[in-house]
Amino acid sequence: MLPTKLTMPRKSVFLKFVIIALLFSSHSFWAPNLAEAVNQASIDRVKKIVMMLNIAAKEFEEGVVNGKIVVAPEYEESLVFLQQAIERFARLSAEIPDSQKVEKLKNQLINIMGLVKDKADSQKVWAEVNSINSELLATFNIEINKTPITPISLVNGKKIFESNCLICHGLTGNGDGPMASQFDPSPAVLSNAKLTGDANTTAYDNFEVINVGIANTAMMAWAGVLSETQIWDVTYYIRTFSNVNIQLPPVNLELAAIESSADNAGKLAAMVVDEVRGLLDKSLEIYKSGQGDNAAEVAFDAYLAYEKIESNLITKDRSLGVSLESVFSRYRGEIKRNAPFDHVQSLNNEINLKLSKGLELLKSEVGFTGMFFQSFSIIVREGFEAILIIAALIAFFYQQDMVEFVGQKD
Ligand code: HEC
Repeated sequence: MLPTKLTMPRKSVFLKFVIIALLFSSHSFWAPNLAEAVNQASIDRVKKIVMMLNIAAKEFEEGVVNGKIVVAPEYEESLVFLQQAIERFARLSAEIPDSQKVEKLKNQLINIMGLVKDKADSQKVWAEVNSINSELLATFNIEINKTPITPISLVNGKKIFESNCLICHGLTGNGDGPMASQFDPSPAVLSNAKLTGDANTTAYDNFEVINVGIANTAMMAWAGVLSETQIWDVTYYIRTFSNVNIQLPPVNLELAAIESSADNAGKLAAMVVDEVRGLLDKSLEIYKSGQGDNAAEVAFDAYLAYEKIESNLITKDRSLGVSLESVFSRYRGEIKRNAPFDHVQSLNNEINLKLSKGLELLKSEVGFTGMFFQSFSIIVREGFEAILIIAALIAFFYQQDMVEFVGQKD
């Protein structure tokens, strides 16, 4: 794979560093399940190890191609991150009661260091990193967000598939693309429900494979070639090959604000409000025609649609959020008890008014949660680069001792 060059502005490295420090001490991105009373410090340490291993693998992949160093700083950074992860794991290991597991993980880490030093296939490094990461996350009961952060576009997914994947996997995913016969093993039959069906797999399973590829096969890693959004789009597109009624994940406005701008989050909010209004109108119309039960059902649909923006609204203006929730429930209640039409209509108006107010708020600024997610976006996009710069500096200062520094096996 071609090494992708980072061309972010190099200003405010210090600020980025502070943001990274904040990220590392925050709990919001990860959703730890504390059922096993794992202490927060360990969870934070696990998160760091997971991130560092991911970064190490990513840097290695960009720094070494076909057994040769193509971008020396990236290769060296991968060693630094790996060494960091190994040191942190040594401190963490006391908290893993199963000593066999500790030994296994430790050997895997040493093995990764060996692969990196031997400039082995980056897919092998990824495979080891992924295996350790999932083991670590499972051991500490930590979950990572495994759903897309932007609304899925199947139209986009189709385009991406046809320009990147069709050549091997074929137009309808039957594994019969024009180049398919060239490869051993041959391209996967993506229309096989075993590989992409809702009953057997999750979208995230496919997403991961597409990201990291499959070692020693023609299936390359698409992370870095396609953006995460594009990979999610193509992931859901290939799932249409075996699922007749593909279920797309719900819109998450907060997370959408990461990838898009606050502006786009506002547009999404407007779409949701339009949907809610449409359903409210419909419910009132149906009520007018005397079908109370149907009207109540549609009113409930309106409330469900509203829920997509409810938490965002509550973050902005708690009392407005709470009062909307209550007027929605009164609206349904009045429909159910066959209240006079005027009464039901006035509640409908009240909801519409409050929705307008809410929409203005959601369009205006991002609010605290949005700010958090936006800072998070900065961290994801630029913060890693700051780590890399710092690591590069460290690598520079320690250049003389580098070989011994990374050579430690414990
Ligand atoms: C150069 C050929 C080639 C291209 C291009 C290619 N693939 Fe693949 N793909 C393969 C091969 C070969 C395998 C099967 C490897 C194996 O059998 O382990 C595979 C496997 C897969 C799998 C794993 C299925 C499973 O669960 O076993 C998925 C998902 C997939 N490809 C999706 C894609 C997507 C999406 C694209 C485009 C972004 C793509 N592939 C592009 C050759 C290709």
